[in-house]
Amino acid sequence: MLIDWPALRAAATAAAARGYAPYSRLHVGAAGQAADGRVVTGCNVENASFGLTLCAECGLVSALHATGGGRLTAVSVVAGDGRPLVPCGRCRQLLLEAGGPGLLVDTAEGPVTLSILLPAAFTGTDLASRREARDGSPAPGSTVKEAP
Ligand code: THU
Repeated sequence: MLIDWPALRAAATAAAARGYAPYSRLHVGAAGQAADGRVVTGCNVENASFGLTLCAECGLVSALHATGGGRLTAVSVVAGDGRPLVPCGRCRQLLLEAGGPGLLVDTAEGPVTLSILLPAAFTGTDLASRREARDGSPAPGSTVKEAP
């Protein structure tokens, strides 16, 4: 599917403008294109209890599921200035489950696959194989739907 990177980045920039970042003052927006073509967005939400901060990608992944689920194929994360910002480590892991290692991530140098940003990742497969080793057989429901 064709990815309109300027449009995706513009959607992320619009989301960044709505970010709630009174503490860091770094407004962040994320926009993702799902496999069915729809675009979902999220913005960061900070909290006086700093560790509770939600990154923009958290809102994006929540919006993906809240609007019908499916897989992400492309993501742009930007700061308030509209320039790409690479997802933090936690959000790389979050995006992996929503888009898989082939998910395209916008960077200043052009799109890269998530597998470049998060090599040798921990996934639901690791959970399942350890469970099998422990219990001797796959546990009921151990095949996670839509996991990479
Ligand atoms: N932030 C994101 O929203 N996504 C990232 O991938 C990196 C960091 C936000 C969290 C916090 O509100 C601000 O940027 C400063 O860390």
